[in-house]
Amino acid sequence: MLDPAGRQARLISHIWWVFFWTTFIIYVAVLAFMVISLIRRRVAEKDGLAVTPISAERRLTYVVGGAVGGSVLVLIGLISFDFYTGHRVYSLQDPNAVSVNVVGHQWWWEIQYDAKVTSNIVTTANELHLPVGRPVLLNLASRDVIHSLWIPNLLGKKDLIPGHETQTWLRADRAGTYFGQCAEFCGVQHAHMRFVVTAEPSDKFEAWLAAQRLTAPDPSTYQQNHGRQVFLTNSCVMCHTVQGTIARAKLGPDLTHIASRPMIAAGTAQNTRTNLSQWILDPGHFKPGVNMPQNNISRNDLNDLVSYLETLK
Ligand code: CUA
Repeated sequence: MLDPAGRQARLISHIWWVFFWTTFIIYVAVLAFMVISLIRRRVAEKDGLAVTPISAERRLTYVVGGAVGGSVLVLIGLISFDFYTGHRVYSLQDPNAVSVNVVGHQWWWEIQYDAKVTSNIVTTANELHLPVGRPVLLNLASRDVIHSLWIPNLLGKKDLIPGHETQTWLRADRAGTYFGQCAEFCGVQHAHMRFVVTAEPSDKFEAWLAAQRLTAPDPSTYQQNHGRQVFLTNSCVMCHTVQGTIARAKLGPDLTHIASRPMIAAGTAQNTRTNLSQWILDPGHFKPGVNMPQNNISRNDLNDLVSYLETLK
């Protein structure tokens, strides 16, 4: 959060530092006054003057009254600055923005890039690609409970509420890989609801988007072919989509380009052959309570299935 890579995050880190230094200075001042008064009290007791004279009492009333007034002014100042920053964070309207629909699920992120032509719509999961320097409009929704989208380097938190679409804007100004995290407790695997954010130059972003629009390639080896058969004849097709095949279910993440994603299971594990195999066999081992069931398939079938999934780049 203190290493901003975009406009919104810079505004947020700025207000954070203003709050930090204001409260730090007040804290030091309060401690200093307390130490001074303790020392003076000691000296007065030594001199046998434990009772405060009336004139000093009146002066103290003014001092304390002034301090209370000062505190109120500081609080009003901070609140005004907070409103001002909030206003600026949400003022990034742009008609040419990249529009992305984000849907929260227990416990993963469905991410969809809008397009005028339906066949150009890109659906992916747990990865958000952004073009550097261009405003992005995020349309946020949820299919089950309240989630909250948070990308500390780029954006503050924004809730995803079932039945009530919300919107937020962001702009990445520095290319890089960042992490996003669900920031609203949404069930036992709330902490395992992460996503990878890749901010990249516009041409790279467009190339990524074009690659994501392609349907899955046909398998080339016997193993991969058999793996696709395993995929299409087991329970995988009840929940997942692979564009270009009969698998068109939408309960779980779209797997058309799963091999191009750096992580699986919403940022829970690296996307390696071993992790993918173990995940398919027993997802609950990684994420207890997850909706994906265990799969009882033979070692051979699993091996070929993973070989097939690895072609889905
Ligand atoms: Cu979704 Cu916490």
